[in-house]
Amino acid sequence: MKSSRLSRQTAAFILVLFSQCVSGKDCMCELNTLQPPFPMEKFNSIQTAAGQCTKSITSTQFEEVSVLMVGVQERLEHLEKSVSVLEKEDDGDLYSAVSVRIIELELAEILELMGKMNKTIRSHMQISQSTATKLQSMTDSMQELEAFDLSHVVNKQRENQRIKQELVECQHELQATHPPPTPRPRHCPQGQLVNVTGPRTYSLTSYGTSYPYGAWGKDPKPAPGKEDTYWLVALTTSSVYANYVRHYSSLSTMLVGVGAEDSTISYANPTTNSIEGPNVVQYGGALYYNCYNSPSVCRFNISDHSITNTPLPENTGYSNKFSFGHLGALYHHTDLDFATDESGVWVVYSTIENFGNVILSVVIEGSPPSLGRTWNTSLYKRSATNTFMVCGVLYATRFLDKQTEEIFYSFDTETGEERYDLKIRIKKMQTNIQSLNYNPRDRMLYAYSDAYIVSYSTVFQ
Ligand SMILES: *[C@@H]1O[C@H](CO)[C@@H](O)[C@H](O)[C@H]1NC(C)=O
Ligand SMILES: *[C@@H]1O[C@H](CO)[C@@H](O)[C@H](O)[C@H]1NC(C)=O
Ligand SMILES: *[C@@H]1O[C@H](CO)[C@@H](O)[C@H](O)[C@H]1NC(C)=O
Ligand SMILES: *[C@@H]1O[C@H](CO)[C@@H](O)[C@H](O)[C@H]1NC(C)=O
Repeated sequence: MKSSRLSRQTAAFILVLFSQCVSGKDCMCELNTLQPPFPMEKFNSIQTAAGQCTKSITSTQFEEVSVLMVGVQERLEHLEKSVSVLEKEDDGDLYSAVSVRIIELELAEILELMGKMNKTIRSHMQISQSTATKLQSMTDSMQELEAFDLSHVVNKQRENQRIKQELVECQHELQATHPPPTPRPRHCPQGQLVNVTGPRTYSLTSYGTSYPYGAWGKDPKPAPGKEDTYWLVALTTSSVYANYVRHYSSLSTMLVGVGAEDSTISYANPTTNSIEGPNVVQYGGALYYNCYNSPSVCRFNISDHSITNTPLPENTGYSNKFSFGHLGALYHHTDLDFATDESGVWVVYSTIENFGNVILSVVIEGSPPSLGRTWNTSLYKRSATNTFMVCGVLYATRFLDKQTEEIFYSFDTETGEERYDLKIRIKKMQTNIQSLNYNPRDRMLYAYSDAYIVSYSTVFQ
């Protein structure tokens, strides 16, 4: 409502000045209006009402519904798959009983979401109803006030707006006959990820089959002289916690399992600032991981062994609240997933507010590290097995069967575009992949799969 200035102008027009000189010295002015005074109070109350209306309806409320819808749809698809798996394995054994329990849990989640949506929609309906009433009374009052617009300022302005709108529409129509603009080239020089080939390497580590959870890889921004170094973290306590990172000077020494150098993060395992969960990465000579029993990003400096950290938003899930998984398994304590790409380090996590869906944040390297830009996605974290980043695009995988993992989802941080229709398959050597990360330097994917270390090449178009 920017008409308060206008109304004052309008009021000025309806004032008529009568002046008369009474004597040679004194002049007297008599101020008369031809109309009753402009009802400023009424005008102010309309303005207040309009402000309240704007406050009570915000676009985020409507986003809330659409996020819920996407969440429900995603889970329904998931449930459908779970049921068809159950049908296939319905031979009365224990595994079926487990699946039925999982389906029950999924169903309960869907019902809960539906309830939430029901509540949200109902509250929106109430808002719309009360807003419609208020709007009608505001319209009526404004019409009354318009009677004061003797010089037709408001009328003319409205007419101008209508003409302007027509002009815009006309311009749109003109533009529509032109071919659509070509999409601007992506920052990613190598193009789009279209396939994953391999495995290139497939081996047990020096730990043998002792530790099914862990991660390995190569630092994408290595310290000088460390270009060929490989890092390895195995979760040595309960397959959940670790307190050191192991380095090998080359791939061959790693595969043979000789010449390991360990850097100790903490002397106890677990303890404050030790590692929790497998989705660790090394970048710029530092290890990024989920700090023990805390919704925070920890960074361990490999050269001076200092540890710094930064908290994630309130209500971020940790210690097995929002883990990755699939029908047959939950990848425990995978609440936080770290990723590296051409631009640096990222962290994937989830909060109660985002209904267990994936949230992505930039991790800024400074000391201490901090969080940069953040994106909400509609990907339900538990329906994915892993995530990784390539060129600012988040990819997620799911479990197809024991031999195949599928990259099915992507979220482009540049355009905000979300896709659920990717079908890039990864050939597995073991049933589960506990961690998966992309290295922008050699463009390889590094996977830790049931105690085996596996690498893959990526193909770009
Ligand atoms: C939505 O709420 C209404 C009113 O409380 C209730 O009758 C209906 O069963 C609810 N629907 C769902 C799907 O929860
Ligand atoms: C992806 O790579 C695999 C293995 O090389 C190959 O069999 C498959 O045809 C490729 N898929 C596409 C879509 O290029
Ligand atoms: C790690 O420590 C070294 C030596 O103190 C320092 O030069 C380097 O910048 C640190 N790295 C990070 C990522 O903080
Ligand atoms: C993500 O969703 C949460 C909860 O709805 C909201 O508070 C937050 O502002 C959103 N963040 C972004 C970057 O959209």
